Amino acid sequence: MSRSAHPAGPRHADVLPEGHYSAPPADLNALDPKVWAQTVTRDAHGVVTVGGIDVKTLAEWFGTPAYFIDEADFRARARAWRTAFGPDADVFYAGKAFLSRAVVRWLHEEGLNLDVCSGGELATALAGGMPADRIAFHGNNKSVEEITKAVEAGVGRIVLDSFQEIVRVAHIASSMGKRQRVQIRVTVGVEAHTHEFIATAHEDQKFGIPLADGQAAEAVRRALQLDGLELIGIHSHIGSQIFDMSGFEVAAHRVVGLLKDIRDEHGVELPEIDLGGGLGIAYTSDDDPREPHEIAKALTEIVSRECEGARLRTPRISVEPGRAIVGPTAFTLYEVGTIKPLQGLRTYVSVDGGMSDNIRTALYDAEYSVALASRTSDAEPMLVRIVGKHCESGDIVVRDAFLPADLAPGDLIAVPATGAYCRSMASNYNHALRPPVVAVGDGDARVIVRRETEEDLLRLDVG
Ligand code: LLP
Repeated sequence: MSRSAHPAGPRHADVLPEGHYSAPPADLNALDPKVWAQTVTRDAHGVVTVGGIDVKTLAEWFGTPAYFIDEADFRARARAWRTAFGPDADVFYAGKAFLSRAVVRWLHEEGLNLDVCSGGELATALAGGMPADRIAFHGNNKSVEEITKAVEAGVGRIVLDSFQEIVRVAHIASSMGKRQRVQIRVTVGVEAHTHEFIATAHEDQKFGIPLADGQAAEAVRRALQLDGLELIGIHSHIGSQIFDMSGFEVAAHRVVGLLKDIRDEHGVELPEIDLGGGLGIAYTSDDDPREPHEIAKALTEIVSRECEGARLRTPRISVEPGRAIVGPTAFTLYEVGTIKPLQGLRTYVSVDGGMSDNIRTALYDAEYSVALASRTSDAEPMLVRIVGKHCESGDIVVRDAFLPADLAPGDLIAVPATGAYCRSMASNYNHALRPPVVAVGDGDARVIVRRETEEDLLRLDVG
């Protein structure tokens, strides 16, 4: 993102400080459809609405801070991924981005599968009615209890992440008289970043089994020997918030290379390849994500081309988008509490939430946009930093953005694209109560995850 200063700038600063911001947008009241959920617009009074309900009403009904998820948008994005990949591929929504029983139901209805990575996510998936055979179970250190539950439930695949786990899953499945379908997660030596990828000589991270030094080939050898396992494919996930397809190209090339080696050594052509998730979304107007159909076309072409080169039958492809489905479908609504203009710097706007409902800014230096939601304004742009109410100066929700200079306590502001990894990474820091998630659609709003209460906190504190 650009770091340029703007000559107009906020009225209280002659020179804008260093920061992660572009020029103020031409129209502060405009809502860029790139970063807002599909049904979000302003009503005749200038109030932001979602699913036909304005945010003042939503704040009255559900309080702030709260996450509002546009159900129609979620379903549309899920469907777009499903349609783009077609019947010969599988789309597993990555539940870690945000999971609740309502979401599981939407996914089921839209024909998606589900990737879970903990016993808790597995329990939610099953409680939400996802058929077990459409669930993939991930994780780099699944407990014996988690594996047992997954095998018992009959999950469609367990993605094996270590040599110990190969033996553990085989043993558990055998002792139940079952043969568990598994994939092996490999690290292909590609580390993907937001706009680029860096090929590394060897992976220095906790996930997967390295391809480079022959460990992945050895893992395959062992898995093929164990009665409790049915090895169906190879899995690779290269990172997150990726815009550039070249990382996937290298990953597919290397995974197909392994499939070829497996065919040559064992005479088996594994039927599946999973390329993971990680596709980027627009957090600000500067981000340009690709559409699902472009991604599907690119990935399918890459895999087919690589397989043709290796004279392999093209395996069934699966992908695991999380952020790209849920991220853009929600926004967080906050009420402004205090406003502190700092001469020559910026104006600090404190809201009633913070790093407990969005840790991504503090943790990843993530960038977000923000809009005044309860009204429009013709006031000049003011450079703001949206901060929370936690006892920590790193408690930043939006590092640098512009809001109208007449912003006042009591105004509602909304931060878009908070559907992924915000509620799912929310905490009780400072004993904050985690906000509710409200599904909005067709003029109706329904709590799908309720707000925490002080009783909830105290119930865990057994005294
Ligand atoms: N598949 C696997 C094996 C993964 O590890 C992940 C994400 C996904 C799929 C989904 O990735 P997505 O499409 O949502 O980018 N907390 C971080 C993101 C961590 C992602 C971890 N794995 C964030 O807030 O950006």
